[in-house]
Amino acid sequence: MTVTKTAKKAGKTANFDCKDVGLAAEGVRRIEWANQDMPVLQKIRERFEKERPLSGVRMACCLHVTAETANLVRTLKAGGADVVLCASNPLSTQDDVSAALSVHYGIPTFAIKGEDNTTYYKHLLAALATNPNVTMDDGCDLVTAIHKDRTDLIPTIRGSMEETTTGVIRLKAMAKDGALKIPCVAVNEADTKHLFDNRYGTGQSTIDGIIRATDTLLASKTVVVAGYGWCGRGFAARARGMGAQVIVTEIDPIKAIEAAMDGHRVMPMKEAAKIGDVFCTVTGNKHVISTEHMSVMKDGAMVCNSGHFDVEIDIAGLKKMAKKEIEGVRRFVDAYELSNGRTIYVLGQGRLVNLACAEGHPASVMDMSFAVQSLATEWVAVQKSPLSVKVHDVPKSIDAWVARLKLDTMGIKIDKLTKEQEAYLASWQEGT
Ligand code: ADE
Repeated sequence: MTVTKTAKKAGKTANFDCKDVGLAAEGVRRIEWANQDMPVLQKIRERFEKERPLSGVRMACCLHVTAETANLVRTLKAGGADVVLCASNPLSTQDDVSAALSVHYGIPTFAIKGEDNTTYYKHLLAALATNPNVTMDDGCDLVTAIHKDRTDLIPTIRGSMEETTTGVIRLKAMAKDGALKIPCVAVNEADTKHLFDNRYGTGQSTIDGIIRATDTLLASKTVVVAGYGWCGRGFAARARGMGAQVIVTEIDPIKAIEAAMDGHRVMPMKEAAKIGDVFCTVTGNKHVISTEHMSVMKDGAMVCNSGHFDVEIDIAGLKKMAKKEIEGVRRFVDAYELSNGRTIYVLGQGRLVNLACAEGHPASVMDMSFAVQSLATEWVAVQKSPLSVKVHDVPKSIDAWVARLKLDTMGIKIDKLTKEQEAYLASWQEGT
């Protein structure tokens, strides 16, 4: 693997790495298709083109390389930033988009679907080789690489945006340990991000990934959802909508009660493992499905993950335990024959099933997440003095603006408080 392809765009030569530059035309078509469903991001791009608030920003983004992400990085570029992009997961890249970004949109991109771990990290370092002063992460790998391999960048980094729950948990752990050295912004914590992308995006795209990989009928199946955070809630609701009987496993008593009151069965994974047909982990934690669980699963059980990292299912343990492994019994499905005579199917190698086996969340929901990303980047860029080194929340005004504009583009109007109601909410004297 070499990271040496070059493109000439506006007189500049830039390195990039994609599977096949011949895929660029298809990538452009898919990026433009997604763009139609991203009206909030379009509005921001139009303003950015005029105001250029990101002039002087050198940006390295480590994100899933999808058609939706392409529209985000186009927006950042329109704002005046010099942008490079690398993959945030070895299996989530859309190769046509990777090619289109480098060749057609002049945004150097380092991403190939199925790249091995060495190439993955080579791509990350290639993005950091541009000496960024602002970064954007989906899962904290870029920030980790800065803290481990490119500490020289730390003094000049003005801020780093984080897209996902797992990444924010990592950043907060770093801050608690005193290990965090750059200001970060927890984009995931914005309401217009996690309440919609994590719930409705993951809900739909996880179903999409499972169906594209297996073509299984979900009606009447027992679907086991490990974790009842926003992603788990969304996926459980959509699985039920497809006619599945849903079992939720949890370690948090409050979330467990919520799952029960939402009408799902709740039980330990040890019990659920014996009766599930399709399993999906969305916990952000390690070995939530262990070899002990897989050894009691039914013949033909399908196992997948929709959490950020591929640690939730003990695949290494399964490989050791299996009598026989058959790669690719179907595209993105591997079979493991156990000594008890049963076969377990793993989808997308235990990586994010919605991005490995399908196209990730639909554009309409990424519109809000990436609107928040764009405006949070602008917020970092326009600061007069450096942001403090900690995990910052996105300003509430950004959240409210994105929500209002999204409603507007959906043709939905809402009520306004009357003066009397405003006064009532501000008062404490009036009672029964
Ligand atoms: N995360 C989940 N879905 C995504 C998408 N379509 N693009 C980028 N990141 C995502």
